[in-house]
Amino acid sequence: LLRRAHSAALPKLNSVDADDIAHFSKFLPSSAILSTLPPASTTSSELSPFNNDWMNKYHGKSTTVLRPRTAQEVSEIVKYCNERGIGIVPQGGNTGLVGGGVPLQDEVILSLGNMNKVRSFDPVSGILVADAGCILESLSEYLSPHHHIVPLDLGAKGSCQIGGNVSTNAGGLRLLRYGSLHGSVLGLEVVLPDGTILNQLSTLRKDNTGYDLKQLFIGAEGTLGIVTGVSILAAPAPQSSNNVILALPKFDNVLPLFVEAKKQLSEILSAFEFFDREVYELAVKHGQGRALNEEDVAGAECFVLVETSGGKREHDEEKLNGLLESLMESDTPLINTGVLSQSPSQFSQLWAIREGLTEAVSKEGKAYKYDISVPLAKFKEVVDTTREHIRSKGLLHDDAVKHVVGYGHVGDGNLHLNVVAANYTPEIEAALEPFVYELVASYKGSISAEHGIGAMKVHALQYSKSAESIEWMKRIKKLFDPRGIMNPGKVLE
Ligand code: FAD
Ligand code: MLT
Ligand code: ZN
Repeated sequence: LLRRAHSAALPKLNSVDADDIAHFSKFLPSSAILSTLPPASTTSSELSPFNNDWMNKYHGKSTTVLRPRTAQEVSEIVKYCNERGIGIVPQGGNTGLVGGGVPLQDEVILSLGNMNKVRSFDPVSGILVADAGCILESLSEYLSPHHHIVPLDLGAKGSCQIGGNVSTNAGGLRLLRYGSLHGSVLGLEVVLPDGTILNQLSTLRKDNTGYDLKQLFIGAEGTLGIVTGVSILAAPAPQSSNNVILALPKFDNVLPLFVEAKKQLSEILSAFEFFDREVYELAVKHGQGRALNEEDVAGAECFVLVETSGGKREHDEEKLNGLLESLMESDTPLINTGVLSQSPSQFSQLWAIREGLTEAVSKEGKAYKYDISVPLAKFKEVVDTTREHIRSKGLLHDDAVKHVVGYGHVGDGNLHLNVVAANYTPEIEAALEPFVYELVASYKGSISAEHGIGAMKVHALQYSKSAESIEWMKRIKKLFDPRGIMNPGKVLE
């Protein structure tokens, strides 16, 4: 399989000029236009947070960021850019991990941050309708007094936006319990590349009236249109939540443990997250959560965080304690120890270790992040095989690759293989790609379980999608976006 330069296949698009800025000024306030072009006077360093991604791996050269406040303003921007042939990159919280939210060249960045109002919430049905730019955590805070939760949670909750979550079809820490956004999103409002506002903000649980167009935009990564509003089914807040970090002597115990946890906890099991010893040490080194006691960590090859959420504290605790007792008392225990949270603050601290892994890895070095679906039994094999491959290339040392680690969502079959390097270099990338993609394909896995394709995996799509599927994706793209202005060079070549 050939690897092609991303920019080679970009459609021919125009750069923004001063006339365009003058046009945008007719319907946007000056505070909504950040541009280095006159009459605006933003400095390029002020644009830097929009041009560079969370990992500082992908770098755009946009001169202009627009921050509309309404779907109507989005529509006017998009219609104009379509007529002028100017590329647009929709941007939410810019926490994406595949370079999808920053320009490849000098496309306009359309930032949704100013569209941040809750439109409605029905406490009976649990249906929440919100602007796409609402930050995930603020939606959780909004729902809390109404005893509901967003059916999605991830470590980036303080910055990522619901529109970005929908556009990446983010998975996260609650998917095991609440399923994917393809199920919980009930409707969307989307501005199409010709400026049409497609209002599909349904608040119906059931609606079998032909093609379900909204599904196309869930996970489209901004390549088909701009999501401006989201209708989502919130879940009743659990009355009781508990968690425990289990230390396992060997990876082989993860699967039987998962089977046992499902059997004994049944309906109250709400998360089952895995992380290996090496990435745990990075979390401790970089101050994520509170370190476990030495005796709890000794002899552990990996860890599992189990969360329960249910309706009655005594019932849930009895079940969780029952599980822990049976695990410890067995003749061949699956676990060494378990650290059970005893208070809300301990509950948060245990989660902070798991949620902080992404940040720990980024503080340690430059992370090559492979977000893959492979059979559960192969998680360790994938990490070990990749480490040995890097070693065989002479790249496993402090000046090149420092760590090869694994963590992820066991319940979803999703492994995060992270290769932590001193720097991003062509030599390391060449050692990893297509090696990792071929490894994933050999297990009939997916090269992107939840982060998307973005700019990172455009050239690798064929490892997980058939030629026919890619051809039909291209036809759909052409139908919605014939000029190719929407997030050019992302997802599809
Ligand atoms: P951005 O990064 O701004 O954009 C992501 C993509 O969506 C881009 O292609 C962009 O063009 C497009 N987009 C954004 N908003 C819109 C819109 N309104 N309309 C159309 N297109 C749009 N991901 C997971 O799946 N699970 C996790 O557990 C998880 N944990 C994370 C933890 C950390 C610490 C970090 C940094 C990231 C994590 N991610 C995770 C990845 C990322 O946070 C998610 O993909 C998130 O959903 C992106 O939201 P965002 O608002 O930051 O989008
Ligand atoms: C996670 O599960 O922590 C996220 O998907 C982010 C990551 O892969 O680092
Ligand atoms: Zn994840």
